Amino acid sequence: MKATRILAAVIALAAATSALGASSLPIVDEDQRADIRARALVAKMTLEEKIQMVHGAILGPLNKNALGGGGYIPGIPRLGIPDQNMIDSASGLNGMFKAFKEPLTLFPATIGLAATWDESLSYDFGKRLGKQLRAMGFSEGLGGGLNLAREPRNGRTFEYLGEDPVLAGKLTSARTQGTHSEHVIATVKHYALNNQETLRYTSNSVVDERTLRELYLLGFEIAVKEGKPTNIMCAYNLVNGDKACENKMLITDILKNEWGYKAKVQSDWIMAVTDTVKAANAGLDEEEPGGPDDYQSPKLFGFEMRSYFNQKLKAAIESGKVPMARLDDMVGRRLFALYRSGVMDNPPQPGGAIDEAGDRAFALKVAEQSMVLLKNAAPTGEGESVLPLNGGKLRSIAVIGGHADVATLFGGGSGSAVPRGGNPVKCLNPAAKLPPGLMSACAAWFRASPLEAIRTLAPNATISYLDGTDAVAAAEAAAAADVAIVFGVRWESEDRDTPSLALADASTDATNLDYDQNRLIAAVAAKARKTVVVLETGSAVTMPWLDSVQGVLQAWYPGELGAQAIANILFGQTNPSAKLPLTFPKREADLPQPVIAKTDTQVVYEEKLLMGYRWYDAKKIEPLFPFGYGLSYTTFRLSELKLRPARGGGVSLSVKVSNTGRRAGIETAQVYASLPAAAGEPPQRLVAWKKVPLGAGESTIVRLEVPAERLAVWNVDKHRWQMPAGAYRFRVANSSRGGSEVAAPLVLRSR
Ligand code: BGC
Repeated sequence: MKATRILAAVIALAAATSALGASSLPIVDEDQRADIRARALVAKMTLEEKIQMVHGAILGPLNKNALGGGGYIPGIPRLGIPDQNMIDSASGLNGMFKAFKEPLTLFPATIGLAATWDESLSYDFGKRLGKQLRAMGFSEGLGGGLNLAREPRNGRTFEYLGEDPVLAGKLTSARTQGTHSEHVIATVKHYALNNQETLRYTSNSVVDERTLRELYLLGFEIAVKEGKPTNIMCAYNLVNGDKACENKMLITDILKNEWGYKAKVQSDWIMAVTDTVKAANAGLDEEEPGGPDDYQSPKLFGFEMRSYFNQKLKAAIESGKVPMARLDDMVGRRLFALYRSGVMDNPPQPGGAIDEAGDRAFALKVAEQSMVLLKNAAPTGEGESVLPLNGGKLRSIAVIGGHADVATLFGGGSGSAVPRGGNPVKCLNPAAKLPPGLMSACAAWFRASPLEAIRTLAPNATISYLDGTDAVAAAEAAAAADVAIVFGVRWESEDRDTPSLALADASTDATNLDYDQNRLIAAVAAKARKTVVVLETGSAVTMPWLDSVQGVLQAWYPGELGAQAIANILFGQTNPSAKLPLTFPKREADLPQPVIAKTDTQVVYEEKLLMGYRWYDAKKIEPLFPFGYGLSYTTFRLSELKLRPARGGGVSLSVKVSNTGRRAGIETAQVYASLPAAAGEPPQRLVAWKKVPLGAGESTIVRLEVPAERLAVWNVDKHRWQMPAGAYRFRVANSSRGGSEVAAPLVLRSR
């Protein structure tokens, strides 16, 4: 029997079944099962019930049972549809205005997760968050951001996964599956091209078809096809003239029809929708945060909120401007997400058990694997690299700046969380006049003291702490110590781009900082015997002082166990293994978009395919640190690269990875492909990678598969992917530059 006939028979059977329990359908495919149950339930709903299903009720009188997350859609008890509470969960549960009393652990920012290059950690990251969500009664997590770091000053870079679409897409699919394993709806966002915060509600990302497909949609395509998310959040900005949430090409033509996405599309929160008919007919399924049609008080972030999928949608259905079939599809997709995730059959209830010990151990593991060792040199006249520090031998350490005595930093906005027990660092200028509508300008600091963690690992040393406000005093303390450890911080947040890639000073971040960090580091490095800089930032940093310091550790926003992870790496308890998920440029003038326009809403992606490392490669610009870069306390060699065409049109590779040093460590073998010249592609692209743990002196042969789709180019005439014929070159390297082996080109056929 053909599949369609089986499906027809099953639909007939389903229609005949009045109570559709999960086990009463003889269907093997879980998607079909969920779809049929969803459609059968839609058939029983009144128009009012359908309308209630497709918009949130966080604002206004229906908000009775909401649990304090960013969104809430009441259930329909007569049909067994549970309430749906949703909450931001980029790295931990974020009630935005609510500090939970429960022992919920905040994991490292996802830019750090990306630096682990580890899909199985990403799965566990999604799973652990899924467990936390379920335990608190939330059936939908709003994490899963994967907008690419086209603009590293984007204030949300810390909530995303760097600049490579394949790395971001693979990690997101793993994370999605992890959350689904806990039977919670997993979100992927912000679809699409929400790559900067400046003018985010009104800016129009203007991009050509090939760049759109090969870069900015590719991560979503991988995440949708492999991770099968149950929620996609569309973005605030416009894409080629239409709002992302009212964009038929993005939502219906590509996401639903071409990629076969079966679940719902949800709007982002503020003014993402302004036209009921256009949004509904473009394929938007759920409007958030929703409420009464015109909700004026209290304002959300200073905005009067209007709902377009409430009575306005009802009127559009009644007048025929939006077909009833579309409304049924919207509701059906929401129900599909509920069934497919397992929420419908087993809705989360608040009060579940929280695995605090397990979460903390996991947070430490991710933090340790996320921190990138960027520099580790020997001080002049000495043979040994500055790190790892010898905790037993050190007599004195000067710890300087960054509030390292009490806390580690985290980014702001919905990707943040409210610190338990309050913020240990006072906002310097809480009354700072900010343009209306902006979220808090005060950084969230998490109680975890790097100073204390350092003390524990250097029990014989005298340790001084200087807060950094007096550069002269800090330099004097540094001169008297065996080593100076300076903390450099930069708070970044949703709703604002960071004014520059430099470490902040009082003029660029008056609310959080009252001294010039670049000056401080330079002053310390000029006097200290050895200087190590630890960076807590969510994106790339420029380092005018780089030549005068011996060590640099990029710790990102390391989460609640970050302080211990920093100390463990500095003292060698952990051997660093992370790799940069985005390029660090030498100067902002090297960026494709040297400045972010403050008033021009047309954001034209003029650099086309030359984004991230592709830009620096093509323009032959030396970055400060390239994409994929990261040091270890041991050394590795990659050799004996062998290639052969694989079935299906791709390539199978093998490479020998050797640990040539004296301690165990992990190397990430990265495969970069250069396509045939006629393809007109940037010089190289990341096509595969593998993390390889090796003991001291150990070697192993690693096999990697590069499927044909990783070698494809978007054909703008045929509007489809195509792998060009010709000579391909492959490199295996430990970064996008350097340390690699070039094999002879491999001639492959077109597919
Ligand atoms: C953000 C989303 C977030 C939502 C709910 C929006 O401002 O762009 O990422 O999920 O708020 O808090």
